Amino acid sequence: MTDPTRLTLRRPDDWHLHLRDGAMLRAVLPWTAAVFARAIVMPNLAPPVATAAAARAYRDRIRAALPPDTGFTPLMTCYLTDTTNPDDLAAGHADGVFAAAKLYPAHATTNAAAGVTDVARLGPVFARMEEIGLPLLVHGEVTDPDVDVFDREAVFLDRVLAPLIARFSNLRVVVEHATTRDAVDFVTAHAATGRIGATITAHHLLINRNALFEGGLRPHHYCLPVAKRERHRLALVDAATSGPGPFFLGTDSAPHPVAAKECAAACAGLFTAPAALGLYAEAFQAVGRLDRLEAFASLNGPAFYGMPPNDTRVTLVHAPTPVPATVAAGPTPADAVVPFRGGATVAWRVERERDARPPPTDRGS
Ligand code: DOR
Ligand code: ZN
Repeated sequence: MTDPTRLTLRRPDDWHLHLRDGAMLRAVLPWTAAVFARAIVMPNLAPPVATAAAARAYRDRIRAALPPDTGFTPLMTCYLTDTTNPDDLAAGHADGVFAAAKLYPAHATTNAAAGVTDVARLGPVFARMEEIGLPLLVHGEVTDPDVDVFDREAVFLDRVLAPLIARFSNLRVVVEHATTRDAVDFVTAHAATGRIGATITAHHLLINRNALFEGGLRPHHYCLPVAKRERHRLALVDAATSGPGPFFLGTDSAPHPVAAKECAAACAGLFTAPAALGLYAEAFQAVGRLDRLEAFASLNGPAFYGMPPNDTRVTLVHAPTPVPATVAAGPTPADAVVPFRGGATVAWRVERERDARPPPTDRGS
């Protein structure tokens, strides 16, 4: 009989991750690299990573910040703007720098001010991406202030994404951090084409919008797209645990210093990297579908991106595991980051095959 307290799977990848830069990069990267083999790195730095040269330089900084022997590969993305040059994008792809390009509607979220004001103007960019097979990763929310914040994803699918994929019928698209039943239905409806995927975060599998108001306003549960009603969370759990298919793991781990979270206008983003795989395991275990975790975490993403799954394995051990209350990311306490579940425990611990690497310390860099 298999041991229900241990689960071995191919080493997973994180198909949506914010690593930031400088001291924050050095503080957060070890948590991801200790578990995940590859990660799609979001380009929303200030200024954004909007050219192949900028992405190459950012990749160098990430590599330089890696602890030794992690075997971790950062996969870079291009931040699309109104003035993205299709030739630069294609050259970056041909040189192995760009794994994808990210569409932020202007002002949709953190560092999205330079994002795209009107997707209709990016026709030549999308046409080139379609031609070379470069996936388009979308932050799928409209920014129209007249649209209720909880409806912005559903309206985006309707108004922006449906016409876009109809116009570019071979464009590969990932609906990033899906948060609604609408997104699940949209992606499922296109599953047969193999060209539409979606990432799902651990936090959207574990919390609904009530978590924003639990005993007071909870900035550490605030992210974009914001968590929705319970019926949407249930649809996400169903999708994530559905086995082989278009849904795959993307944490959207998005660290902000505590000073930017615990204030009058808190930044959006949850820092889930210190417990990420264990958090996903909790969500899968809650519905009795741990056997489907490997497809979601380690197989569906590589299949979508046309990459091989990882050769090595990780083992999840069912044991309450502390999550640090804070992770230092600079000289002062205000620079620290509060992880999701910080100061409490996650139900699963991760062991890497072949090495008994201790988890990174929470002392930053
Ligand atoms: O919550 C979020 N945080 N959503 C995003 O889209 C961006 C991210 C960030 O960079 O902080
Ligand atoms: Zn993100």
